[in-house]
Amino acid sequence: SKTLKIAVIAGDGIGTEVMPWGIKCLEAAAKVYNLSLSFTSFDFASCAYYKQHGQMLPDDWKDQLSGFDALYFGAVGLPDVVPDHVSLWGSLLQFRREFDQYINLRPCRLMPGVRCPLAGRKPGDIDFWIVRENTEGEYSSIGGKMFPGTEREVVIQETVMTRTGVDRVLKYAFDLAQSRPKKHLTSATKSNGISITMPYWDERVAEMAKGYGEVKVDKFHIDILTAHFVQRPQHFDVVVGSNLFGDILSDLGPACTGTIGIAPSGNINPTGKFPSLFEPVHGSAPDIMGRGIANPVGMIWAGQMMLEHFGYKDAADAMLRAIESVLAKGDDVVITGDMGGKGDTKSFGEAIEREILGSKE
Ligand code: NAD
Ligand code: IPM
Ligand code: MN
Repeated sequence: SKTLKIAVIAGDGIGTEVMPWGIKCLEAAAKVYNLSLSFTSFDFASCAYYKQHGQMLPDDWKDQLSGFDALYFGAVGLPDVVPDHVSLWGSLLQFRREFDQYINLRPCRLMPGVRCPLAGRKPGDIDFWIVRENTEGEYSSIGGKMFPGTEREVVIQETVMTRTGVDRVLKYAFDLAQSRPKKHLTSATKSNGISITMPYWDERVAEMAKGYGEVKVDKFHIDILTAHFVQRPQHFDVVVGSNLFGDILSDLGPACTGTIGIAPSGNINPTGKFPSLFEPVHGSAPDIMGRGIANPVGMIWAGQMMLEHFGYKDAADAMLRAIESVLAKGDDVVITGDMGGKGDTKSFGEAIEREILGSKE
């Protein structure tokens, strides 16, 4: 079969600690299911690179990465070393924007064996996708600071919604809802208070809905939507939101289902013109870095999403089953502290790797 060319960008902090386990698990899946994967590591998009070069990425980063099928990304950010807006705008957000990864797809699922902080929920009760707009909206570079350093200081950052940008993320979300048994789409809005962009978002949702007669559509303002995530998460099937709303919901959702340490994401360019990027939802976790105790599941599950994206269904299914089975066992000495265990990155990663290797026996 064709070789899937993967660019590995581990980044900072626990990104560098969980990445090896993501690769080992992918290699295990490749071995069992006869896939050909190649991994090429890059040291840019890290604060160490910035310290050396004064920028997060080399000038020719696009040329260096364009030929890859996918980017496998850890996490970036060491705010004590480089300000977050410099390190993240200079790396991850460039990848998303320049490679037109306009979908950020993030599952929110209560997995077997994971302690849910919400009372009375069991696996299967919470199982939905968050579809986040990933290239425009509130994350815009339009704005500026005037009269800096004076009492007249003004800062402005515009929200940008283009018809193309809104419609393409809505179409992806409607298609996804259409493909699922419940066929239910929820739109995150705030059209009561944000009086220009958010009513426009609602208008495009209503327009798109006309083409999807079978999909049940509802919408909630973002404030009450966060409450519903906590109080009735079983309501949701596919949730679509702007860049910022999707960002917030995709930490809240995984937190409601146990820990953000297991949540993955796909930053997808559906046209295939540019590489897509797969990463855990969590960041570089400076508070626990260097101790080898980070949960590797978000990184491994992101690798699973990558195989799924490229249509390697058997291997992807096996990876997901392996993750589920190790979570379900919930072995105290295997799972990490964020899940209430005493294990570490290695014990958790190894258990999943072993499960994948044994998945065809
Ligand atoms: P974070 O996700 O790094 O950490 C939040 C909390 O969750 C911390 O207490 C951390 O210890 C814990 N945590 C996160 N991942 C974990 C894991 N795998 N296992 C166990 N515990 C885990 O978010 P933050 O603290 O807001 O950000 C820290 C840095 O990471 C900042 O520089 C931020 O900008 C950056 N960040 C980067 C990304 C990314 O690269 N995709 C995402 C989010 C934050
Ligand atoms: C995420 C992160 C990023 C975002 C940050 C690190 C810029 O929080 O991937 O969710 O806001 O998109
Ligand atoms: Mn986030």
